[in-house]
Amino acid sequence: MITHKGTKTLYTKRLILRHFTVEDAADMYKNWASSEEVTRFLTWQPHSSPEATKYVLGLWCSDYEKPDTYNWAIEYEERPIGSIGVVRFDTQSEHAELGYCMGTAFWNRGLMSEAAQAVIDYLFAEVSVNRIGISHAVKNPASGRVAQKCGLTYEGTKRAYFKSNAGEFLDISDYGILRSDWELARRNAL
Ligand SMILES: CC(C)(COP(=O)(O)OP(=O)(O)OC[C@H]1O[C@@H](n2cnc3c(N)ncnc32)[C@H](O)[C@@H]1OP(=O)(O)O)[C@@H](O)C(=O)NCCC(=O)NCCS
Repeated sequence: MITHKGTKTLYTKRLILRHFTVEDAADMYKNWASSEEVTRFLTWQPHSSPEATKYVLGLWCSDYEKPDTYNWAIEYEERPIGSIGVVRFDTQSEHAELGYCMGTAFWNRGLMSEAAQAVIDYLFAEVSVNRIGISHAVKNPASGRVAQKCGLTYEGTKRAYFKSNAGEFLDISDYGILRSDWELARRNAL
């Protein structure tokens, strides 16, 4: 049974996952929201100005009133460098789909895998989901690698499933982890 608990602050070795605030606008714009490289495989266009970022943050902050909002700022060395959250929550079927992005200056240091693992542990342990999924463009293998490193299993590829910002039809691979997989991995780690 799902118990929605919202965007609770989570701590990892190097990161704090916390609520966004409107004061994050300048860092968010500079570090990732204005970047075409970051948004290449995402559903949104790069922001045109810090004011645009501030507007989005205003909407996100009011969403925190809803207990089924899961949208964390990833704070590293005292500034936000990216975001991670649940992009689709199916309460009836007890599953959540994760989405994430981070500024290019911080890629390939294991930071998103660290953030995603904390979110996965939280969603299984405290929110009691039965399944977590991550989908990524085949042309964006780093995201698939994050899913693999967090123990998700490859489940298949949908052809031409997503039309990118650049108008390209992209193949999308799906990864998933069930509560039973997660519990087994935790038992084996003891
Ligand atoms: C995808 C993204 C979140 C990864 O963040 P990150 O902090 O660099 O991820 P990690 O360092 O935890 O792991 C990345 C892994 O991908 C690997 N990788 C990077 N580029 C790769 C490539 N071109 N091919 C294969 N593997 C690649 C890295 O080597 C690393 O694996 P390793 O630790 O086994 O060496 C980041 O690249 C990003 O924000 N991209 C733009 C937004 C985006 O695409 N979001 C996902 C949408 S589905």
